[in-house]
Amino acid sequence: MDRLLSSPAIVQGLRKVEDRIRRLSGSSALPGINAGARHVVDAGGKRLRPALTLAAALALGKSPDRRVITAAACVELIHAGSLVHDDLMDRATERRGARTLNAELGDGKALVIGDFMLARAGLAAITAVSRPVAEVLAATVVELAEGQYLETSDLFNPARTRENALRSITGKTAALFRAGCLVAAICAHASDEDKARLATYGERFGVIFQVLDDLLDLTADGPQLGKPAGHDLRQGVYSLPVLMSGVDLGDLLGRDMGEAEVAEALRRLRASRMADDTLAYCHGLAAEALAALPVIHDPELAGLLYGLPTAYIQHVTDLTRLTTTS
Ligand code: IPE
Ligand code: IPE
Ligand code: MG
Ligand code: MG
Repeated sequence: MDRLLSSPAIVQGLRKVEDRIRRLSGSSALPGINAGARHVVDAGGKRLRPALTLAAALALGKSPDRRVITAAACVELIHAGSLVHDDLMDRATERRGARTLNAELGDGKALVIGDFMLARAGLAAITAVSRPVAEVLAATVVELAEGQYLETSDLFNPARTRENALRSITGKTAALFRAGCLVAAICAHASDEDKARLATYGERFGVIFQVLDDLLDLTADGPQLGKPAGHDLRQGVYSLPVLMSGVDLGDLLGRDMGEAEVAEALRRLRASRMADDTLAYCHGLAAEALAALPVIHDPELAGLLYGLPTAYIQHVTDLTRLTTTS
């Protein structure tokens, strides 16, 4: 991931994307909305999704022109808007090292500023990119909502299935990674086959990204994660690693857990094969992602996209080892 985010061509493109994100997030007639949206985008974040959009365009031989830059900015704005809504739903108080909008301004304002960000991205896509790109992004917001809805429907459900968890992840996270790659391919006028290939790559990587975020929530402690472990369990989110682990948590799931119970659940999960099995599952997805990539002539870009999934899995493997061996 670091390699992608520090590649000179990507860094150069991201500067322009950043400028576009700032303009879009400051484009309301209402200063209060601008201040809220800017608070979120200025707090940082890795800019992984727009970096992926730029890399996908470059891989197809398309230098990032105005349309690609705007498309990448729209992808990040949708991500940031969805985080505003996610934090509202999760009652989170901190994100990206800053206070969340719900904590700062209250739920009502956070809700409509999130709406503004999602809608503003759609408007920019239709006016400054193209109708096909706007269509993909609009469909992605639909999938995001569906993915979040599925997760909400299964909160504290001890009978949650792996299939449902995977479907939720695919909508809430993977759909936007997929879209980031697909809009790049559309801007590059790629063939239908190459569009489908890049979309599959993005989707698989998106699933990996969320599954590993879920794993870290169970395996990484404070210093690595910046938050206490077991947050998802406390919130009633029984994530894919938990469901795949086969660990019997029947006496603990289905209701609010006290701190001692969270610690007990984490102890059982960490003593199981959960981390190894989850990482192996992600390696399988990475193989599918790589097999889907189209032919990339530029060796630098080929290296970046081929290396990304496995390098990220390795990074999380190292973090997980730190916890399980300490
Ligand atoms: C956070 O995404 C939400 C998940 C899908 C796990 P990121 O980890 O990419 O968040 P930022 O953009 O860097 O803040
Ligand atoms: C990520 O979900 C939010 C979206 C994809 C909309 P999570 O709730 O798992 O992510 P974090 O842990 O808050 O970043
Ligand atoms: Mg959350
Ligand atoms: Mg959430």
